[in-house]
Amino acid sequence: MALYSEKVMDHFRNPRNVGSIENASGVGEVGNAKCGDIMKIYLKIEDDIITDVKFETFGCGSAIASSSMATELIKGKPVSEALELSNKAVVEALDGLPAHKVHCSVLAEEAIKAAIEDYYEKTGQTANQ
Ligand code: FES
Repeated sequence: MALYSEKVMDHFRNPRNVGSIENASGVGEVGNAKCGDIMKIYLKIEDDIITDVKFETFGCGSAIASSSMATELIKGKPVSEALELSNKAVVEALDGLPAHKVHCSVLAEEAIKAAIEDYYEKTGQTANQ
């Protein structure tokens, strides 16, 4: 029985948008205290559009696949849309994660939110939510 979907394996083996962005508009780093995994997201934002996004994840395969998929989902999107990205949407886009691996996708949602908050702080805006 395959525990992981083909999409998870694909994004784990060939993660998209790995790396960092110099002078990023926003950077967000989050971790999960239980497993010790860490995820960092870099955003480049122009006119409220996410023109580039990169990630560094020190974590399990599901965390890497989740970050890869999440960056693909928000690239080219308005900030407001990225802010609404839920871990559920990431899991769905990956064709599912095993129940005990769902928290890995939560890291992706949190890291993106943290990076957007950083962007808002840097630009003196407030997230109106
Ligand atoms: Fe913790 Fe995957 S096991 S992020």
